[in-house]
Amino acid sequence: MTTQPDDYISTREHVRAYLDRALLDAETRSGSESGLYDAVKQKLMESDTHLVAHYYVDPQIQQLAEETNGLVADSLEMARFGARTDARRLIVAGVSFMGETAKILSPTKRVFMPTLEATCSLDVGCPENEFKSFCDSHPDREVIVYANTSAAVKARADWVVTSSIAVEVISALAMEGKKFIWAPDRYLGRYIQKQTGADMLIWDSACVVHEEFRLYDLDALQLAYPDAGLLVHPESPEEMIDRADAVGSTTQLINAAARLQNPSFIVATDKGIFYKMQQQVPEKLLIAAPTRGAGGTCQSCAHCPWMAMNRLSGIERLLDDWPESCEVLVDEKLADQAMKPLTRMLEFKVPYSG
Ligand code: 13P
Ligand code: SF4
Repeated sequence: MTTQPDDYISTREHVRAYLDRALLDAETRSGSESGLYDAVKQKLMESDTHLVAHYYVDPQIQQLAEETNGLVADSLEMARFGARTDARRLIVAGVSFMGETAKILSPTKRVFMPTLEATCSLDVGCPENEFKSFCDSHPDREVIVYANTSAAVKARADWVVTSSIAVEVISALAMEGKKFIWAPDRYLGRYIQKQTGADMLIWDSACVVHEEFRLYDLDALQLAYPDAGLLVHPESPEEMIDRADAVGSTTQLINAAARLQNPSFIVATDKGIFYKMQQQVPEKLLIAAPTRGAGGTCQSCAHCPWMAMNRLSGIERLLDDWPESCEVLVDEKLADQAMKPLTRMLEFKVPYSG
């Protein structure tokens, strides 16, 4: 069953307004940052700071994290790393929910982001008050939220999950006879529902990047590359998931590229992932999955506009000034409440499946 909250249309407009701002920002950003890399790397090495980067950010930033004892990872491993590293400061190159999660899990560290404007359409599409009243009207259900949500939404949840463990968590809880509210990604929600058969009420929001992967040109691409495997992030539409050879979180897709025997892969996720995926499979051909189709237009064109706000120049500004406007702060009470579902996520162990 899929539920549309009453404010669905206004939520969609709300997301649109954020997206327009991010796209405008991308247009006005300065182009070249060549020459900056070595200086930023030196400053980072001399600072008591670790850089934690998501696979979707600029490859230069991923390389910077690798070369300075930081981490490049999916959202689950980013959260784990932030909590276990001993540096005094963290720079999170990703989007705001990743910075907030790092701060909640590491309250004594100072957490910075190149810009706090880097949000996520799923987070924007799940406003705190509407979500709370939705939950309040279904008190008999376990509330499970995706990591791509605000601290306030997490604080209302029983569980937080990322795409790497969502199916396993809901499957384990469904075996205890539980029913669920799932938010915010409808495609991931439907995928989980299909995999587990769980009784779920699903919030109606989507990722603006993955929603654009469509079948239109996929047939032609698969004809041209008959041996190519199809790798799909579960925030993508069902038609893509149904055709996939592997569905999973960003790390799981990188692992699938190494595990599967195909000489090439069509990849339906943000193209920032090619940097790490190609490192894993240097001999294989990686092809971006088509968005929209010939003659169609795409808004994000397989690259998240908010991830793109992370720039080397922004990291340099942090290392020079540590501006307050870039520090991630989370209200203490909210952080305490969100800690519980987040800890469940970090402590969850996939049950032995036989
Ligand atoms: P992962 O948890 O797979 O890293 O995904 C995060 C994300 O934002 C995907 O769009
Ligand atoms: Fe959010 Fe989509 Fe960007 Fe991931 S790719 S951060 S889900 S908008």
